[in-house]
Amino acid sequence: MRRFYITTPIYYANDAPHVGSAYTTVNADALARWHRLLGDETKFLTGVDEHGQKVADAAEKSGFSPHDWTERMSARFLEAWDALGIQYDDFIRTTEPRHHESVQKFLGTIYDNGYIYKDVYQGLYCVSCEDYYTIESSDQGRCPIHGSDLTEMEEENWFFKLSAFEDRLIEYFDAHPDFVTPETKRNEAYSFLKSGLKDISITRTSISWGVPVPWDERHVFYVWYDALINYLTAIGYGRDDDEVEKWWPSSHHLIGKEIIRFHCVWWPAMCMAAGLEPPSHVHVGGWLLIGGQKLGKTMAANGGLKLTDIAPITLIEEFGVDPLRYYLLRETALGNDGEFSLEGILARYNTDLANNLGNLVARVTTVVNSKCAGVGPAPQLESTLRADAETAISESAAAWQRFAPQSALEATWRLIGSTNAYLEQHAPWKMESGAALDAVMGDALEAIRLVAILSSPAMPGVCDEIWRRIGLDGSPADQILEKSAVWGRYPGGRTVVKGDPLFPRMKSDA
Ligand code: MSP
Repeated sequence: MRRFYITTPIYYANDAPHVGSAYTTVNADALARWHRLLGDETKFLTGVDEHGQKVADAAEKSGFSPHDWTERMSARFLEAWDALGIQYDDFIRTTEPRHHESVQKFLGTIYDNGYIYKDVYQGLYCVSCEDYYTIESSDQGRCPIHGSDLTEMEEENWFFKLSAFEDRLIEYFDAHPDFVTPETKRNEAYSFLKSGLKDISITRTSISWGVPVPWDERHVFYVWYDALINYLTAIGYGRDDDEVEKWWPSSHHLIGKEIIRFHCVWWPAMCMAAGLEPPSHVHVGGWLLIGGQKLGKTMAANGGLKLTDIAPITLIEEFGVDPLRYYLLRETALGNDGEFSLEGILARYNTDLANNLGNLVARVTTVVNSKCAGVGPAPQLESTLRADAETAISESAAAWQRFAPQSALEATWRLIGSTNAYLEQHAPWKMESGAALDAVMGDALEAIRLVAILSSPAMPGVCDEIWRRIGLDGSPADQILEKSAVWGRYPGGRTVVKGDPLFPRMKSDA
């Protein structure tokens, strides 16, 4: 059986989730759902990064202990993901004992393998990035991403010999051209690699909120060093070798573009140092921007953006969960930056959902009720719609396969467009009841059935409802694509229900 292991970054638990975190999570969820449709054994991991100074500072600022703060924030993430219909198989919290165990085992192995040594770290640090800078890599002493002052640090730390892996990493990149996608991001990681790697400080004594270093309890691991290992914790590293063997190294890490270096350079090197294969794929997404600015928590603090106004739950209340998911997947190609706006969601809602999909389902269910006694006819085997449907199936399958949900949905919407055009051409609402009308309606119902399957990774709730309205049992998610996404499988003879509009039109002041 084919397997598919997909992960999101684990989000810092310094604050509640926002639309930016939802963006990556919805993409990963839709891809996982697609692979379940393919019949792949699928594991979808997400979670929260609860350690580090940024989280400890946020807790202190709010008057909580780090433990109590992360309890609250983790609950907020779970609540948001449930509201967004995120079907994760595992939700990891880095404070869990299973994670501490895996981290200590993994980094203990690297230590035993001779890739960790003690030295004095002196340099600059950005708490918002949880990242180190040199004067050269900073923006005149300020953080190049956040514009904030950098903290000067001098500590005796344990270091990881990243420099020892330069050649092996270059070889790995050369031998695996699809390790990092899209290619522009691969090139970015590759040029970083080629510019020469320095060893990295991986422990801290100045904070205690972290995973203790097993061989030197005065230190905790630097947050990135514990966080990356979550991808192995969740598949039982150090606890269940069979599970690790089953799921590793074939893995798909979905990340945002600001964390390329950690995932494409540090992480494969760490795996090599621990005697493991590096992850097989890293897919880099762009950022959602508001007025050209990254929609992140730190920016909000600096620039006055009110992220509470654009929390996923607020948008769900306004537009509904499936329209929001559709917008996030359809508006921006994964890998590019995209401008986020309420007007953008509204436009997609009214055009793609209300006018195209909603209208198609309403027309077909109405005519079947008024002219076919509410019973859906079977499709014709040879229909002019068939070729369009087959193109939509093959194009969207190819797009999901290459991690391009936007193109997959575009292909699906072309089928919606041609089905609406087919209805306009035949105008069944003007036809007499009988075989000719049945033929048209059967074809349209079959196209709707296929659209429901192909759109279900994006809009699971609405597609379940469409499935029910055209009289089918179960849900599109129960289907296996190969068997079900085949023209002519709508059985006919099923009760078709005309319900309320799936997407009532919204006014721009809504
Ligand atoms: N905790 C680290 C990741 C550790 S993974 C081993 C971290 N957390 S984060 O909370 O800052 O989340 C980063 C991820 O959230 C990004 O990589 C990206 O996937 C997502 N996004 C956060 N803001 C975003 C946008 N404005 N737009 C798109 N995605 C965004 O880094």
